[in-house]
Amino acid sequence: MAQTGESGHFGFRDVPVDEKQELVDDVFRNVAHRYDLMNDLMSGGLHRAWKDVLVTAVNPPRNERPFAVLDLAGGTGDVAFRLVASGGAGTRVTVLDINRDMIEVGQARATERGLDQAVSFVHGNAEALPFPGGHCDAVTVAFGIRNVPRIEAALAEAYRVLRIGGHFLCLEFSTVDIPGLAALYDFYSFNAIPALGRAIAGDADAYRYLVESIRRFPRPDAFADMMRTAGFRQVSFQRMSGGIVALHSGWRL
Ligand SMILES: C[S@@+](CC[C@H](N)C(=O)[O-])C[C@H]1O[C@@H](n2cnc3c(N)ncnc32)[C@H](O)[C@@H]1O
Repeated sequence: MAQTGESGHFGFRDVPVDEKQELVDDVFRNVAHRYDLMNDLMSGGLHRAWKDVLVTAVNPPRNERPFAVLDLAGGTGDVAFRLVASGGAGTRVTVLDINRDMIEVGQARATERGLDQAVSFVHGNAEALPFPGGHCDAVTVAFGIRNVPRIEAALAEAYRVLRIGGHFLCLEFSTVDIPGLAALYDFYSFNAIPALGRAIAGDADAYRYLVESIRRFPRPDAFADMMRTAGFRQVSFQRMSGGIVALHSGWRL
């Protein structure tokens, strides 16, 4: 394993940054086949509404006009399928993910739905995209950026592949500041989610990691600053469900 000397976080543990990626890969390898079911159970179906807000913000054209979206850390393709359902015949989504098991599940699902033309899957790392610069109309990432060890590198890459006038949208768990809700959310997160992870996916530790990684993720204003540093302009964010989730938006101008 390459050692860079940088350190990152795996849940609440400090780990070398390269080791974090391996640990994250283990989590998603173990849960790939149950991933979408778990999302529904853990969020009470709310992840669907949050993703719909993301898709509405992308606003793919309803006509034949070509519109290329790159969905980073797109996993089993859930966001990609929603994007092509909402867009017209010209909307094409490339799902990039580092985990082959998640991609395999997504690819099979695309074939089942007859969406092989509209949605393609690429194995790769969000920190070093295997694409030329300036070719995407939009780049999205949903519940993925906090898993990437070098977030700054992923933001710089998202910026690089966007065309001038292209839109970056990032949906991610965020910070709940409402006192009563925060206590309830903490209890749910640290008890119910690992228990559900054990019952459904046979892996409580994986889901404990997911909860811990949410708590370590930068607050929305700090993440907006990271986006500005990467070059994005007109950066804004909207919090949803009491701050459980935030949608960040920025443009390459
Ligand atoms: C919580 S899942 C989100 C999947 C999907 N976006 C969704 O909302 O259903 C996080 C995904 O990030 C991927 N991932 C983690 N590190 C990555 C990296 N460095 N580059 C690309 N994908 C990565 C994982 O493999 C996993 O599929």
